[in-house]
Amino acid sequence: MELKTLFSPKKIGNVQIKNRIVRSATFMFLAEKYGYVGERLFKMYEELARGGTGLIITGAAAMDPSAAGGPYQVCLYDDSHMAGHKKVVKLIHEYDDAKIAIQFNHLGRLGYHPKYPNYAPSPIPYKGTGITPKELTTEEVREFIKKFIDAGLIAYECGYDMVQLHAAHGYFLNSFISPYTNFRSDEFGGSNQGRTKILADIYDGIRDELGNQLPIIIKLQSQDFIPNGITEEEGIEIAKIISNAGFDGIEPSGGGRESIEFMKNTLPSKIIKKLEEENYFLPFAKKMKPFMRDCALILVGGIRNPITAEKILQEGDADFISLSRPLIYEPELPNRWIDGDLSPAKCISCNSCLEVMQEGPVYCVTKRNLEKRNI
Ligand SMILES: Cc1cc2nc3c(=O)[nH]c(=O)nc-3n(C[C@H](O)[C@H](O)[C@H](O)COP(=O)(O)O)c2cc1C
Repeated sequence: MELKTLFSPKKIGNVQIKNRIVRSATFMFLAEKYGYVGERLFKMYEELARGGTGLIITGAAAMDPSAAGGPYQVCLYDDSHMAGHKKVVKLIHEYDDAKIAIQFNHLGRLGYHPKYPNYAPSPIPYKGTGITPKELTTEEVREFIKKFIDAGLIAYECGYDMVQLHAAHGYFLNSFISPYTNFRSDEFGGSNQGRTKILADIYDGIRDELGNQLPIIIKLQSQDFIPNGITEEEGIEIAKIISNAGFDGIEPSGGGRESIEFMKNTLPSKIIKKLEEENYFLPFAKKMKPFMRDCALILVGGIRNPITAEKILQEGDADFISLSRPLIYEPELPNRWIDGDLSPAKCISCNSCLEVMQEGPVYCVTKRNLEKRNI
């Protein structure tokens, strides 16, 4: 079978992506101390670009000193960080027209920073740490909006092709859009429109400065999968608002540390029967696709098989497919498929990569074990 659509180019905003394969944002624990980008990340990104991925989204980067999850998370909020980022962008662009987006995140109520309180729209404790976050005043929310906008402008200066806001998995921006964590009575709370205002304001702020020069995409919570969280119906409504706000692409995801639905341990491809079981955000994508006009739908979650990926793209249920765990195992996966080996990704979604992420640099434990035994 020819993978005509999977390997055809398409634009996100004004940026042409050479194929439909996106590397979903993946925190690799590879920054140098205090969040600088150095040799280990240069090597990792170069491998991904060499492997044929069309658009690489970086791991979550801190857009403010209070945003990081530890000293080894990439930062980009002042001039001192820029040299490493510029070098990553240059390396990527040297590889057959690969493109790179930076993902910006703030851990919000899920944080554990020694110096800063956790910030959130409302003081709802996170059960994982027992910490009650600091509720932001309206003025402080505006200051955070400015921090995201400024980070977008620095990213543009570094040469990134686009930015992605992380508004999923329970972090800062997700906590604004979720009725589970946002009980505000000012303009940043209330209805779906109010709870998403922070996202629209960040979008508008970057657009006002840069026009269409820097596409802005978003990893967007489709459902929280917790009581009183975002329901599927609300998720659709929110996606509609975001698409109408002008965002250039939406990558729907869902769940978070309080419900790990975004990292489902799907069965290996060969024994999956239904497309929707393996590609677990596909049912949601199908519901949101009809109202997304100039906004690309980037489908993530359990995509392992190039033939089903092609089918999803051909049927118009998504514009791009996005992979995280498979590219940890096989950074060269897109080229393997281009070269005609259409067997599914070797990743078995065992989540061993997530386990080691708590301790240090991310790798696939399954792959390493197999290599050790020469299998
Ligand atoms: C080690 C690891 C780190 C991750 N880091 C991020 C991140 O920084 N930002 C993000 O939005 N998602 C992150 N994710 C989630 C992935 O982007 C993706 O949504 C999820 O793994 C499902 O896709 P997959 O089935 O292709 O792995 C991470 C996943 C893994 C395994």
